[in-house]
Amino acid sequence: MKVKTNKHSWAEPYKIKMVELLKMTTPAQRKKAIATAGYNTFLLKSEDVYIDLLTDSGTSAMSDRQWAGMMLGDEAYAGSANFYHLEKVVQEVYGYKYVIPTHQGRGAENILSQVLIKKGDIIPGNMYFTTTRLHQELAGGIFHDIIIDEAHDAANLHPFKGDVDVNKLEGLVKEYGADKIPYICIAVTVNMAGGQPISMGNLKTLRAYTQKLGIKIILDMTRIAENAYFIKVREPGYTQRSIRSIVKEICSYTDGATMSAKKDALVNIGGFLALNDADDYEEASNLVVVYEGLHTYGGLAGRDMEAMAIGIKESISDEHIKARIGQVIYLGEQMRHLGIPITEPIGGHGIFIDAKRFLPHLNQDLFPAQALAAELYIDAGIRTMERGVVSAGRNAKTGKNYYPKLELVRLTIPRRVYTQAHMDVIAESVFNVYCNRKKIKGLTMVYEPKYLRFFQARFEKIK
Ligand code: F0G
Repeated sequence: MKVKTNKHSWAEPYKIKMVELLKMTTPAQRKKAIATAGYNTFLLKSEDVYIDLLTDSGTSAMSDRQWAGMMLGDEAYAGSANFYHLEKVVQEVYGYKYVIPTHQGRGAENILSQVLIKKGDIIPGNMYFTTTRLHQELAGGIFHDIIIDEAHDAANLHPFKGDVDVNKLEGLVKEYGADKIPYICIAVTVNMAGGQPISMGNLKTLRAYTQKLGIKIILDMTRIAENAYFIKVREPGYTQRSIRSIVKEICSYTDGATMSAKKDALVNIGGFLALNDADDYEEASNLVVVYEGLHTYGGLAGRDMEAMAIGIKESISDEHIKARIGQVIYLGEQMRHLGIPITEPIGGHGIFIDAKRFLPHLNQDLFPAQALAAELYIDAGIRTMERGVVSAGRNAKTGKNYYPKLELVRLTIPRRVYTQAHMDVIAESVFNVYCNRKKIKGLTMVYEPKYLRFFQARFEKIK
């Protein structure tokens, strides 16, 4: 082991108070379990999983303070004290004026899309996200990807692969006119690109350009603290700044945000819609009653809003985020060392294996990333997720499959849950599958649901 200086260590700024025991399974049990699940890791029973890297969503370990906060739940139907606490924290930390709680991120996406999108509108965004694009489409909008080309190349080392290509945006404005574009949807640490950040410089440029055209910027702020960390360590001028101040600056260039608090904000359930415009807020706070609940609870219990308010404050601590991303980078470096092809640079919320380079003998119609996720489960009980042709789905108009350039398996790291030893076991297992990769033959899809097919599709092994 190399001796490291304190400057580089990322040890956790907490200690463990309670543990959850895991069930150990045999390869034969796992082969049976994944076949029963139709080779879709979403359909496995969680008790059959050893290390669960399906998602970082709702899987964080809450702190003792968050659990204590849950005991302070004010379960009144209207005007709960926890709502006012949450509202104050969102206003202070992110700087938005109005806050509407929702049961999770997609609840906020639904309301926002209904309020801002008219049929035929164009919604540019820095790469699609599954639920976000679907809500835009259900509201009558048409999504256009305006992320830089580098983001679609897993091996490209650009430090801010979440950046928007302003020329692509200008092209859309020329083609459709600014009045057809109500807002651009900007994601932080872009999930589908491998947790890749957007730079502050790019945000500022976008703000200057869109403001004169009357186009709003709506942030998908789901992993904003992680993005702030990358700005701090990669963008000139931000090294000495706190995560908290960078987070607030990001929000200052936008008009509102949708938030899945199940990620950054360290809660198991919850989200919100934040807005600055009074008219938009009025419409959204009326609409939320239809889909989620009254505007002071939005589908959440008072205790959930309290845990969220406390989690938001914990999420912007410099020590927390350094350890969080430090752990992800530790795993990524192990993989790199073993020669596993991964998305570079290492992103914020997980390691993304490049299934195209891992399984070059499989074309996308054989669902390489889906097949690889199934094999990883069989090897050591590690549950991962496909982010490739299955997740991309079909074009709503033509019904044709999207064939995304990125065909990835996501190893998503829950926050404050697993240890460094777990990271070592994961790397060893991936390496084992890598050594036997030529035996992997691919899958065929035998059941395809209409919406967000990756969640419930079923597959069979190619013989
Ligand atoms: N936006 C982003 C960037 C997300 O990653 C997610 C969820 C959402 C919006 C929707 O939020 O789940 O609370 O309704 N991502 C999860 C994931 C599902 O595993 O990446 P939600």
